[in-house]
Amino acid sequence: MPWLQLTLDAPRHEAQRLSDALEEAGALAVSLEAGDDEPIFEADWNATPPVWQQTRIVALFPEDTDIAQSMAMTASLLGLAEPPSYRTETIADQDWARVWMERWQPMHFGNNLWVVPSWLTPPDPEAVNLILDPGMAFGTGTHATTGMCLDWLAQHSPRGLDVIDFGCGSGILAIAALKLGARSALGTDTDPQALVTARENAERNEVLDRLTLCLPEAVPAGMAADVVLANILAPALVALAPTLIALTKPGGWLILSGILVSQVDEVVAAYAGHIDFEHQQREDWAMLTGQRRATDPLATI
Ligand SMILES: C[S@@+](CC[C@H](N)C(=O)[O-])C[C@H]1O[C@@H](n2cnc3c(N)ncnc32)[C@H](O)[C@@H]1O
Repeated sequence: MPWLQLTLDAPRHEAQRLSDALEEAGALAVSLEAGDDEPIFEADWNATPPVWQQTRIVALFPEDTDIAQSMAMTASLLGLAEPPSYRTETIADQDWARVWMERWQPMHFGNNLWVVPSWLTPPDPEAVNLILDPGMAFGTGTHATTGMCLDWLAQHSPRGLDVIDFGCGSGILAIAALKLGARSALGTDTDPQALVTARENAERNEVLDRLTLCLPEAVPAGMAADVVLANILAPALVALAPTLIALTKPGGWLILSGILVSQVDEVVAAYAGHIDFEHQQREDWAMLTGQRRATDPLATI
C-alpha cells in the first residue's frame, strides 16, 4: 500500500509541538531529522528534544488523506492562522504499518487507567482498560493536554457522577469517565466527524448506553453536571466561560485543558468570581481545576 509522505521544516523549539499536532491530525508516524537530513531518532519519543536549530519533520499519512484538511487541523491545534508550508510525495510501502503499530504502546494514567490500542493485550487485564486506536478525531491520550485530564479523572474517581466532555473529539475523556464508573456522560463537539468517532469508540468500550453525543447547540437547556471537562484552546475557553460555568453544578468540578502556560492568567480571569482554579503543567501546557462556588448566583443558561 502506498503512503503520502509530508515534509516540513520548523525551528527546533517548535518541532515537538508540530509533531504532536500532526499525529493528532492523523499522521500514522512522525520522525524528526536534523536540517542536514541526518536522521536523529525515530523511535524514542520520550527522548530529550534534539539539539540542532532547524528540524525537518517527516509525517506519514494514508494515501487517501485530505492533506489540506489535516494541515488545517494541525494549524488549529497550534493556534496558527494558517498551516506552515509543506510538501508531499507518494511513497511505496516500506513496512510502515509495522513501524506505526510498534509506535503506539499502552499508556498508563493515575493508578488504574490504561489506554490500549486494539491490537495489543492490556498489560493489566484487571485495570480499567480503554481500548482506543488513533483515528479521525483528536484524543488518543498521547497529547499532554489529554493526558493531564485522564490523570485527573483516574485520581478523582467520577464513580456515580454525571460528566460532560465539552469538545469531546474521539470521546476519550467521556469514555474514560464512564469506564471509571461515572453514571452518565455527555460528549459534545462542533465537528460532526468527532461525534461519529466518539460513538464508535464508546461502542467498542461498551459504554454507549450511558453516553449522549450531540452538537453544542443540542445540549439540553438547563443541563448541569458534577464534572465538566473541556480540552479546547484558550481563546475558546474564554469565549465559552458563561456556558461552561453554567454546565457545572454548584460545588461541581470544572477542568480546563488545552491552555498554553502563557495563557493561564487570561483564562483564569474569564472565570473569576465563579471558580477558583489551581493549575498544573506538563510540557508547555497547563490544566486548570476548580470547583464552582456552592453559592454562585449565576443562573443556569
Ligand atoms: C483538543 S481537542 C480535545 C479532544 C478530547 N476531548 C481530548 O481531550 O483529547 C478539542 C476538540 O474541541 C472541539 N471544539 C473546538 N471548539 C469547540 C467549541 N467551541 N465547542 C465544542 N467543541 C469545540 C474540536 O473540534 C476538537 O475535537
